[in-house]
Amino acid sequence: MELKFADRMDSFKEGIFTTLANIKKERIKENKPVYDLSVGTPDFLPEKHVIDALVEAAKIPENYKYAITDTDELISAVQTWYRRRYDTELEKDEIMSLYGSQEGMSRIALTVCNPGETILVPNPGYPVFAIGPMLNDANIVNYELREENGYLIDFSSIPENIAKEAKAILVSYPANPICRLAPVSFYEELIAWAKKYNVIVLHDNAYSELVYDGKRGISFLSVEGAREVGIEFNSLSKTYNLTGARISFAVGNKEIISQFKKLRSQIDYGIFLPVQKAAVAALLGPQDSVENNRAEYERRRNALRDGLESIGWKGMVSEGTMFAWAPLPEGYTDSNDFVLELIEKAGVFCVPGSVFGSLGEGYVRFALVHNVEGMKKIVESIKNSGILEK
Ligand SMILES: Cc1ncc(COP(=O)(O)O)c(C=O)c1O
Repeated sequence: MELKFADRMDSFKEGIFTTLANIKKERIKENKPVYDLSVGTPDFLPEKHVIDALVEAAKIPENYKYAITDTDELISAVQTWYRRRYDTELEKDEIMSLYGSQEGMSRIALTVCNPGETILVPNPGYPVFAIGPMLNDANIVNYELREENGYLIDFSSIPENIAKEAKAILVSYPANPICRLAPVSFYEELIAWAKKYNVIVLHDNAYSELVYDGKRGISFLSVEGAREVGIEFNSLSKTYNLTGARISFAVGNKEIISQFKKLRSQIDYGIFLPVQKAAVAALLGPQDSVENNRAEYERRRNALRDGLESIGWKGMVSEGTMFAWAPLPEGYTDSNDFVLELIEKAGVFCVPGSVFGSLGEGYVRFALVHNVEGMKKIVESIKNSGILEK
């Protein structure tokens, strides 16, 4: 039998992450050095009280039923967390859980767009911002994030006809991969623009707890008018190192939350109850690990940035997230070629900026997943490779 697949499957080529993983395997086999700063998986563990909560709940046979909905306890914990952390009150029907923000963003367009309708996404941007809506047959239009605008959206550059036809805009700060923050004034401008053109705002806030240099991440929902125009995704993955447990939230505009819940109730039976228990423990328990993680990422960022500068690779920036964004060293223009050469000569793995959109070309993204000693070794390896002497 000849198996015939959907045309959309042709648009998924072997991704760079698969290529990098294969090269890594080969190098390990050949006993060559591997310093992997490509994938953003935290190397920290969840706190003991969070694991304990999950384990205890996992011992109760009743907890293996379909959860169907979020527990009252979980919704109340999210309310408490938003109040404590962002001074923002949420009503119960402004909150829903998801199997990670990734899952939420891969499906939200089904709720807000008909096939062919326009959704605006950042270039450069985190891949699922475009892939999610694309899977939902939305029309993807990029808005540009440029260094000269501080990587903020220049709303005047979005053509009037595009703004008028757009159903939604995906926005995310602290931003992966460009590692920049947005001030409150930016969100005020975003909300005013969204109201003017009747565009739903979908804000991804995965990194509000990973912000450096004495600044503090904010919630989109803490800005006046936000819940009239949109929702925010907020994840426990990076804040509490619960990446594999798969739990995050969408919060904000009641109508959007209600429609999204209705959609998800057709395809999902709720988050495993022990995972809900772990989330409650994380949100309501001691918060010192959040600050400890943040401070450790900042030390790593400093070590990498200062080390690279000391060997002549200038311009690496990270104001927040668990990544850093760096222009290619002088003499290089193609980020894909550069990454492969960096692996070959120094054993250092990072991600070509072009993966994140055409405006990512000319840059690479490092994940801050090695400690300070590791970062020093990495810098040494880059220096000794001679790759900067082009
Ligand atoms: C910007 C951004 N949003 C969302 C996610 C995924 O979050 P979750 O684990 O909640 O799906 C990531 C993961 O790297 C991310 O970088």
